[in-house]
Amino acid sequence: MTATLIDGKAFAAGLRERIADEVKALKDRGITPGLAVVLVGEDPASQVYVRSKGKQTVQVGMNSYEHKLSADISQDELLTLIERLNADPAVNGILVQLPLPSHMDEAAVINAIDPDKDVDGFHIQNVGRLATGQNAMVPCTPLGCLMLLRDQLGDLSGKSAVVLGRSNIVGKPMAQLLLRDSATVTIAHSRTVDLPQLCQQADILVAAVGRANFVKADWVKPGATVIDVGINRTDDGLVGDVDFAAAAQVAGAITPVPGGVGPMTIACLLANTLTATARANGLPDPEGLTP
Ligand code: GUN
Repeated sequence: MTATLIDGKAFAAGLRERIADEVKALKDRGITPGLAVVLVGEDPASQVYVRSKGKQTVQVGMNSYEHKLSADISQDELLTLIERLNADPAVNGILVQLPLPSHMDEAAVINAIDPDKDVDGFHIQNVGRLATGQNAMVPCTPLGCLMLLRDQLGDLSGKSAVVLGRSNIVGKPMAQLLLRDSATVTIAHSRTVDLPQLCQQADILVAAVGRANFVKADWVKPGATVIDVGINRTDDGLVGDVDFAAAAQVAGAITPVPGGVGPMTIACLLANTLTATARANGLPDPEGLTP
């Protein structure tokens, strides 16, 4: 059997088109969504992400505000900027690119962002809102995975889901989203006993461990839907957390790397910025962009 390829690149392009249409409608009412991205320091990978975010923000018709700060600024200076962005009505979304320099307290910085502008969904209030089914801003990568899963499978209720990885950015919010859709969810991690046997039970397998080709084909239940969140740089180029070529012979559907989950992350950042703008203006959430 050969799996269906889940084309995240095409899905993300469609999502951006929809967002651009919604932005146009907002502009007709005199509202232009604005996203502020804050980069501290010169981490090369972060610089690439931030450039890409700014470019796509402008492409869908939103305003992009980039704040590039030197690696040695104090945490207080960063907090002062965040306060200013919180108070600025032209800014609907705020993203502070991670990782931050080691002299900063990441949690304190994230929790200084107005939760209604926290388009990353990392603020502790948004974590709580997601866990309790209240209007959260949802982390972009798991939101993108959920959209792909719903598109592929329709109703997720009653499905057995295994999430590999327990990070705050992907694993934990992914599990919450799957639970909200009434899947039966297991979170596995480095101490999990007999990982292959556990994964073999999964109708939905989400891999977010950051280890190249970690998930083997014989861990995959025949016909399962496999979502590979991994982006690992190797001598063979970019590869995911799943041994793709072999797993694609067993799975029912699978995301490639690159071109699977990756493009969904920035598209969902734009979706969250649109949602935040709608809420800030007392408008209903745009259809299909929130869980
Ligand atoms: N660094 C790597 N991924 C992310 C992300 O999703 N959001 C932010 N703010 N920083 C990141």
